[in-house]
Amino acid sequence: MHEKFNFNVLEEIREKTKALGLSLEFSEDLSPLRKEVRIRHKTAPNSFAALPMEGCDSNPDGSPSELVKRRYARLAAGAYGLIWWEASAIMQEARANELQMMLTGQNLPQFAVLVAETKTLCKNNFGYEPVYVLQLTHSGRYSRPEGHKPHPLIPQRDPILDPLTGVNTGAVPVSDEYLESLVPVYIASARLAQEAGFDGVDIKACHRYLLSELLAGHTREGKYGGSYENRTRLLLNIIKEVRRACGDDFIVACRFNVFDAHPYPYGFGQDKDDFLTFDPVEPERLVRDLCAAGAGLLSNSAGNPYYIYPQVTRPFDTSSMGIPVPEEHQLESIERLFAFTGLVQKTAGPVPVVGNGYSWLRQFIPQAGAANLAAKRCSFVGLGRSSFAYPDLPLDVFKTGTAKKEKCCVACSKCTQIMRDHGRTGCVIRDSEVYAPIYKEARRRAEERGQRHEASPPVRYSAVI
Ligand SMILES: Cc1cc2nc3c(=O)[nH]c(=O)nc-3n(C[C@H](O)[C@H](O)[C@H](O)COP(=O)(O)O)c2cc1C
Ligand code: SF4
Repeated sequence: MHEKFNFNVLEEIREKTKALGLSLEFSEDLSPLRKEVRIRHKTAPNSFAALPMEGCDSNPDGSPSELVKRRYARLAAGAYGLIWWEASAIMQEARANELQMMLTGQNLPQFAVLVAETKTLCKNNFGYEPVYVLQLTHSGRYSRPEGHKPHPLIPQRDPILDPLTGVNTGAVPVSDEYLESLVPVYIASARLAQEAGFDGVDIKACHRYLLSELLAGHTREGKYGGSYENRTRLLLNIIKEVRRACGDDFIVACRFNVFDAHPYPYGFGQDKDDFLTFDPVEPERLVRDLCAAGAGLLSNSAGNPYYIYPQVTRPFDTSSMGIPVPEEHQLESIERLFAFTGLVQKTAGPVPVVGNGYSWLRQFIPQAGAANLAAKRCSFVGLGRSSFAYPDLPLDVFKTGTAKKEKCCVACSKCTQIMRDHGRTGCVIRDSEVYAPIYKEARRRAEERGQRHEASPPVRYSAVI
């Protein structure tokens, strides 16, 4: 059963794990968190990573606003070894919202200043610089570059998602020529990131945005659909070309979905007959191919955060509006995410992999992370919502050996709700002075617009099809 977090001491969560028949581990030896991590020619000073978390709050031209500057200054002061910057659109039509980050030739100086200032802040405080990776995205089906109207650019039709994502009945998937025209756009964005002082870029292929959905293009015709080779062709090609254009010193990373939890023939990484069962064959092959193409850093994710099973991506206590209560305990969802990372790290060998799914564990994040690092199930402990709620968690752990319960994310999904309401997002609970009024205002405006978050019944996909 799904139940709210209610643990005070480590023994209680260990007992619950055991009672559920799970194998999650917690270690009281936190020394693995201090370990440096080599990423190609760079070295991250410790094993904490801030995962990409978009604030939907850049300036209209994509440059960093005051809220963006504040977010990255707080992260830099939090002592992360790796800061994986949020989704930044490769071009205007690829933006998921009108304030999504977007690095361009015109706004490059503003990015360069923010990168330099925050790295200096970290150097002054701790004597080292974190590794910076910028996530490059094309939002595909979830593109909404202007106002509140979706402008989906789809790699293939999907009878489940089309009616929910503003895809008209006569809509046509983007052409092979369109997909190929994106390669130089990714290269140009990567070179701008390099010029701005980032240590690398991520060719984002998770959460069912364009390159992620293309991995599941079983029904697409032509050279980017059907076979495994066709479905992965564009992603692998972009990685090779960016690698070639940016040189050996620059990290080309990839955050990708290993498991869509979406039925065949519309999903990636699951059993053809049971979409809730993971099938590792293609994901493992993809990891080997990503490494061979030159990816120097990986982060696996899973699921479609917009659809009715967001626990596959981020286990929560309270859902955002319209999301049914999951039919599994949060610790089961976490075990699945940890197992994915373990598999990806084993397959990737020396290429470091960033784990995720930790935030629900609150004050026990360090113990779970240390156990995974010690068992080589990941190279970094990646923090998503926790980096919004508690940006200085790594610093507290290094200074005091504990994460403070009262500063932790409570997995309430309010930051997701702001996104769904098309507002600027952050932590409504632990950063309430800034984000509680924003949350209320975004809710009010969404209601005024008549934006609906229909309550979805907890149906299985097979019933929907
Ligand atoms: C508000 C919000 C924004 C997010 N933005 C991004 C993003 O820009 N890129 C990305 O790959 N994942 C994004 N994620 C997913 C997180 O990086 C992470 O995978 C997920 O929240 C699970 O980790 P956690 O349990 O530590 O939160 C976002 C999640 C939330 C809730
Ligand atoms: S609003 Fe804050 S506490 Fe709630 S899920 Fe988001 S980060 Fe966590």
